[in-house]
Amino acid sequence: MSFIAALPKAELHVHLEGTLEPDEMFRLAARNGITLPWESTDALRALYSFTGLEHFLPLYFEGCKVLCRREDYYDLTAAYLRRAASEGVRRAEMFFGPQTFLDRDIPTADQLGGILDAIADARTDSGIDGALIVTAQRHRTEAAALELLEALRPFRDSILGIGLGSAEAGNPPSKFARFFAAARDEGYRLTCHAGEEGPPSYIREALDLCGVERIDHGYTAAQDPDLVARLADDGVPLTMCPLSNLRLQVTADLSTYPIAEFMKAGVLVTVNSDDPPYFGGYVNDNYAALQQHLGLGPQELAALARNSFLGSFADRSEIDRALAAVAEHEATAS
Ligand code: HPA
Ligand code: ZN
Repeated sequence: MSFIAALPKAELHVHLEGTLEPDEMFRLAARNGITLPWESTDALRALYSFTGLEHFLPLYFEGCKVLCRREDYYDLTAAYLRRAASEGVRRAEMFFGPQTFLDRDIPTADQLGGILDAIADARTDSGIDGALIVTAQRHRTEAAALELLEALRPFRDSILGIGLGSAEAGNPPSKFARFFAAARDEGYRLTCHAGEEGPPSYIREALDLCGVERIDHGYTAAQDPDLVARLADDGVPLTMCPLSNLRLQVTADLSTYPIAEFMKAGVLVTVNSDDPPYFGGYVNDNYAALQQHLGLGPQELAALARNSFLGSFADRSEIDRALAAVAEHEATAS
């Protein structure tokens, strides 16, 4: 673990709402006068065992109810960035889905204002380079996603990218082709959850019909060797989340996790936490799980860290600086 702990890395797949620790959820509930449906943090934690994405999402949305005021979004983001920085994360590209909170009439300015202030303060405090990717929810309509894009306009220059999350089955990327085209026209970087529970064809749709630059998860590409070869040839990064895939029963066993075969095939795979308290680990726990179950050594772990920067939407000069830091870590640790 010590090689992993100080390994410089980027995290490219983490949902801010999914970083809410149970203690913090209860603290924010008390602060906002909200009664949670669980007696205690232990009672809540006892529910962190899921049969799939659609079993997990209602609990995740229930937890979101404690996020009300600007300072709640600030505290949430600040806590995640503090934790990430302590795990060697130098760059964090974080997902956030405003539609959950717009349903409760919480102004976008309060949501995004709190998050962006925390990103700025963390940059000063620890040097971590945080960035925001706003996700639309695919169980809703494309018209709702386009409305969200409109609501983001005042914040355009503070938002790095646009993604798509929530219930995948039955909600293919093709449903959001016009949404992604509109986001591209506005200059956003584009990424899409695909191939977590959905078939490989959803990954192809995200690339071919939505023009996304990166695939979040991409797990089911393992069923389609031609697609794996294409991902490698085209340099499409996959933001994989091993502990999430285990907890959501996407994969039965990490000893056969396809990240090893993707690496061998030349795919730019990365390791991420998704929703860390819910799935039993932050980013370093995910690296450690792969080290343990796949027998990855320092060279492979460093390759994954390099991929995390290469797959990021950071400027080339920042990527080069980070790659030099990974090389230095490898040199001093060996
Ligand atoms: N998949 C899709 N949407 C999500 C996830 C996930 O793993 N986590 C939070 N929103
Ligand atoms: Zn996710």
